[in-house]
Amino acid sequence: MRALTLLWTRLGAHRSRLRSVSGASAAAAEGPLRCSSLLECATPAARRRDGSRKWTRFEEAVVPLWVADSDFLSPAPVRAAVEAAAAAGHHGYANPSRALNAAAADAVARSWGVDAVDAAWLRWQPGLIGALYDAASLAGPDGAVACPAPVYPPFLNAARDRSKCVTFAVGDGGALDEGALAAALDAAVDATKPGAETVLLWCHPHNPTGRVWRPDEMAFVARACAARGVVLVSDEVWAGLIYDPAATPFVSAGSFLETVPGLRAIVLTAPSKTYNVAGLAVALAVIPDDALRRRYFRVGRSQAEVPAVGLAAVGAVLAGDDGSPAPFLAPPSGDCEPWRRELLAYLAGNRDRALAFIERECGPELSVAAAPEASFLLWIDAAALAKAPGLFLKKRGVYLTEGVGFGARGHVRLNFGCHRSTLDEGLARLRDAVGDARLLKGRA
Ligand SMILES: Cc1ncc(COP(=O)(O)O)c(C=O)c1O
Repeated sequence: MRALTLLWTRLGAHRSRLRSVSGASAAAAEGPLRCSSLLECATPAARRRDGSRKWTRFEEAVVPLWVADSDFLSPAPVRAAVEAAAAAGHHGYANPSRALNAAAADAVARSWGVDAVDAAWLRWQPGLIGALYDAASLAGPDGAVACPAPVYPPFLNAARDRSKCVTFAVGDGGALDEGALAAALDAAVDATKPGAETVLLWCHPHNPTGRVWRPDEMAFVARACAARGVVLVSDEVWAGLIYDPAATPFVSAGSFLETVPGLRAIVLTAPSKTYNVAGLAVALAVIPDDALRRRYFRVGRSQAEVPAVGLAAVGAVLAGDDGSPAPFLAPPSGDCEPWRRELLAYLAGNRDRALAFIERECGPELSVAAAPEASFLLWIDAAALAKAPGLFLKKRGVYLTEGVGFGARGHVRLNFGCHRSTLDEGLARLRDAVGDARLLKGRA
C-alpha cells in the first residue's frame, strides 16, 4: 500500500514536471541554441513549428530521443547551397551535374583506396530505405537476404517484404561472430533457388550499436560473401560520424573489390545523418559490377528522381575537397569539415554524459554493453526494466525507439543528437522511470 501511494505521488510529480518542461521550451521558442562556434541546435519549439517528425509524433511533454534525426542546424555551406537551389524557383526533375558526378566518383575512389571509380557506377536515389528495398529485390522471392540483428528496422522489413530473411546475431557492440555470419550466409544460400541471388545487407558503422567494424572483420565479411557468390550490400551512412578514426579506422566494403576475387558489392551512403539533411531525400548507391548494376537499376525504377536541393547539399559537402583520403562525404579539407569536427566533439560530450549517467543512476535496470564508436545512438539493454521498455518509458515522459523492430526485444535505442539540455531532461526521466520500476517490483 505504501509503495502504491509512493508511486502515485511520483507519477503526480512527473505530470507537473512534464507540464513545466513544455512551458519552459515554449518560452525559449526563439532563435537556435549555440553549442559551439559553428554548431547550432534548433529549439524544441522551432522543431515542432517546422513539423519535425521526431518532435511532433508524441504530445509535447514527451522528450523525443528516438528516430535517428539530430536537432542541429546543417552547416552553413549546406544551408547556403540549398537556399540557392530553392531560390531558383523552378523545381522540376533534376540531374546531377557532370561536375558533381565526377567529384563524387573521385571521392568514392579515394574512400576505397582505388585509382578510379567510373561515374557510371553511381546511382543517385531519393533515400536509403528505398535503396535497401532495391537491394533486397535483387534477391526477390526466389533468393534470400541475410541480415545482422539487431539492425536498423528497414533492413529486416526490406528482406521480409521482398525476399526471405535469415538473421544472425551481432550482439551488443562487440566483435563480429564470424561463425554466426558464415552459418547465416550458408543458410541463405541454401534457401536460394538456382538462378536467384543471395544478398547480405550489412550496416557499417552499425546502427544501433555504433560499432565500426574492424578492417579484419570487414575483410572476413567480404571474403565470406565472395566465396559463396553472395552480393555484399554495405550501408555506410554513419561513416561521417566516427569519433576516433585513428582508433577505429573506417574501411569501406568497396576497398575489397580489387583484392577479394569474385566480390560483388553495392555501397550505399548519404549525407543525411552527418549533415542532418534526411528531409532532402538524396542517397547514393555505387555498383561497379555491370550486370548487377543493370538489375539494380531495373528493380529500382519506381524511385528514380532526386530533388535538386538534395544534390545541392551533396555538392556543398564535397566543395573544398583537396583530394585527401577520407570516408566518402567527410572530406578533411571540405568546406563543412570545421563544422563536422565541432559536431563530433559535441556529440562525444553527449555520449560520455549519457553513458556515465546511465551507469551511475539507472543500473542495473538499464545498461550499455559498449560505447558507440560512431553515430549519435546508444543501444541500451532494458530487459530488466519492463517487457516493453519503450512503452514503459514513454508513459514516463521520454521516448526511445523500442528494440523489437531491430530484432531485439528488451532493448531501446537512445538518440543523443540533440542539445545537452534536452538530453539531460531525457536522462532525468530515465532515472525516474527506473525508480518507478523499482517501486513496482517492490509491490509485486
Ligand atoms: C543504417 C541506416 N540506413 C539508412 C537510413 C535511412 O537514411 P536516409 O534517411 O538517408 O534514407 C538510416 C536512418 O536512420 C540508417 O540508420
